[in-house]
This record gives sequence, structure tokens and C-alpha cells, in this order.
Amino acid sequence: SFDKISSTQDYAHDLIARGDAHNKTIIQALAQSAGRGRYRRTWVSHHGNLYASFIYKTTERDPKLSYAVAVAIAETLIALGMMPEIKWPNDVLIKGKKISGVLIEYSQSFVIIGIGINIKTCPTVKEYKTTKINNFVKDADINNVLGILIKEMDKWRKVNFLTVRERWMDLAAALNKVIQYHGKPAELIGLNEDGALVLRDGSRYILTYGDEISI
Ligand code: BTN
Repeated sequence: SFDKISSTQDYAHDLIARGDAHNKTIIQALAQSAGRGRYRRTWVSHHGNLYASFIYKTTERDPKLSYAVAVAIAETLIALGMMPEIKWPNDVLIKGKKISGVLIEYSQSFVIIGIGINIKTCPTVKEYKTTKINNFVKDADINNVLGILIKEMDKWRKVNFLTVRERWMDLAAALNKVIQYHGKPAELIGLNEDGALVLRDGSRYILTYGDEISI
């Protein structure tokens, strides 16, 4: 755990490069000077929120992992008394506003799962609306949130994908509703057994692993 470092992701990459990383190493920072998000975005990281990277040994790149992580974060917020929804693949929202983000990267035989959860502050960003735990649960404590998250990560990482998929679909925002895919409307059908997102445009089914959707 660090008071302030550039990024827990970068620190994890360094640990692995030096040969000092182990399965289940967790790096936590209270603030980050160069927090990173997906799509080369910055993850504004003031004091008061959870910033952590979980390192696990892995033999393969598994797109299904990102759903297990989303469910683990959502379950953590549920344990605190909130009602989260998951926006594909692994953003967690409360009332349509983003409260948490996940960045999954690989290095050598490790996966690095970076998780940011807004607790006391939420930045204003142009791409989406944001919220924080403190708007719903007063005095939520970072260590308590991290403690619950560690247990949920251990659980959901190991359960079989059909269970993850079922829970992910329970919690999915806009399931069976029309969303925007590449600027065009499509119905969000769910996940298939391989972890692809299934969309429907009229009688045409679309499977995707990597694209953005907006809801
Ligand atoms: C996103 O939604 O774009 C992903 C955000 C991921 C942020 C976390 S905070 C801990 C870890 N360290 C980083 O620099 N990024 C991730």
C-alpha cells in the first residue's frame, strides 16, 4: 500500500518485470499521479477513493475474466447496501452514473486487474457521468470496501463461467433494451457461453468482444 504513486498498474508491471510479483499480490494506492483508464484515458485519482491492482498468475488471456471482475465489484457495492448495474463489459454504474472502472492488462504469466472505485470523490469527465459511494452510504471506509472486494474477487474468479454469466445478466443495465452500437440502435441480448456480447439488429445477431456500447 502506498500513499501516492504514479499508477498501481505501472507498479504491478514493474514488480513483474523485476521478478517480484506473486499470485494474489495486491497493490493499493491512496492516490495516483498518473492513474490510467481504458482507451488511453486518464483516471483522475485524488485521495479518498479505492485504487488497487490485483495480480494473478494465469496461463491464458481470458475475456471472460472481465465479467467475473464486474460481478465482484457489483457484489461489493450490494454488500454495502447499494443497487449497482453493470454496463458492458465491466463498468459499474449506480443510477446510470459510473462509480467504478476496470483495466485489465497482461504481463508475462500474470494478469493485472486494476480497479478504481469512487468513494469520497468523483471526477467530472466529459465521456460519462460519475458518482461515488459516499452519495449513498455515509462514512464508507476504504479498507472495508477493499476487504469485501478481495473476498468477492477470490470467489468470482473461481466460480464457473455459467454462474458468472447468470449473475452478470441479472445485474446488466439495459438487458433486452435498445442500446447504441457503433452509433446504431441494437437490442442487448446478453452474453453467450464464450463470453461474447450478443446484440440483435432486426433478425441479425451480432457477437462482439471488444467494442464500446452506449446505453
Ligand atoms: C476505466 O474505466 O477506464 C478503467 C479505470 C481503471 C482505474 C484503476 S485505479 C487502479 C488501477 N491503476 C490505474 O492506473 N488504473 C487502474
